[in-house]
Amino acid sequence: MAQLKFNGEVFVPAPGQSVLDTLLEKGQDIPNSCRAGACQTCLMQATRGKVPAQAQKGLKDSHKARGLFLACSCVPEDDLDVCLPDTQQLRIAASIVGRKALSEDVMELSLRVSEPFPYHAGQYVTLWRDDSLGRSYSLANLPQDDGLLRFHIRHVPGGAFSGWVHDTARVGDALGVQGPLGDCFYVEGNPQQNLLLIGTGTGLAPLHGILLDALAHGHEGEIHLFHGALNRAGLYLHDTLLALADAHDNVHYHACVLHADASLPENITQGDLGTLALERVGNPAGWKSYLCGDPALVTALRKKLFLAGAGMKDIYADAFLSADTRT
Ligand code: FES
Repeated sequence: MAQLKFNGEVFVPAPGQSVLDTLLEKGQDIPNSCRAGACQTCLMQATRGKVPAQAQKGLKDSHKARGLFLACSCVPEDDLDVCLPDTQQLRIAASIVGRKALSEDVMELSLRVSEPFPYHAGQYVTLWRDDSLGRSYSLANLPQDDGLLRFHIRHVPGGAFSGWVHDTARVGDALGVQGPLGDCFYVEGNPQQNLLLIGTGTGLAPLHGILLDALAHGHEGEIHLFHGALNRAGLYLHDTLLALADAHDNVHYHACVLHADASLPENITQGDLGTLALERVGNPAGWKSYLCGDPALVTALRKKLFLAGAGMKDIYADAFLSADTRT
């Protein structure tokens, strides 16, 4: 049976148990977030032994060469000596330059990074408050705007990171930024293609970035953005998106809520987001679609769009992978 050595102690994983689960079960403090191989918050380094290929999926070659691996995806087959990696080599320093309430429970956090940070709007990064607390958030703005990174952070009750951002963090506070990751971003090459952007909650953040990127590239096809929320208060960029749609003939914004009161304006629909999207756009064959937010909804929408005629290769998705990924 494979053994793990960490901090001078030996641990024996149960059959099929990951390095992360093994160490957490024994009370070790290992940073983690999605536990699904997506956010890279749980990066560790093997100093001896062979890491299974699955545990290095998606990592840069330079990281693989250093023995870095994802602890949540690593079920050891051989004995491994592991440690936490040198964070200086993985993250860049940043500081908070702005906190703006977009609604009662969504904050726009703006960061200045200490060195050039190339990214595509819509990708995600892990923000580190300190060495043990990191959470992944999507980039909601363009790199060329003003050099700042902007995020939409929902206050999750009891959430360690989001609670800190909403209640305690101040302008000037330092953070670490790791990434970027993900392929949910605008791709040049077909400016006439119609775009379908569908998101729930703060799944709007990457879609907002993608929309801005498409406009910055002079995209000519129709762009339909659907934002779903539980109620009117959750449509936290409603006025901004109405103004964007007013300013661009090819931009169409559709707001949808599950629960409505009697005063719901005409431009907000009550009902199912996916059904509304298909009603409004008709046949999505040939469209490029971006789906962001609640994983169950993203999975259901992906299937719905495919069955309605969209090509699988034209559907990009950024599901918030677990309930506590962005807390
Ligand atoms: Fe392991 Fe997210 S990749 S916790």
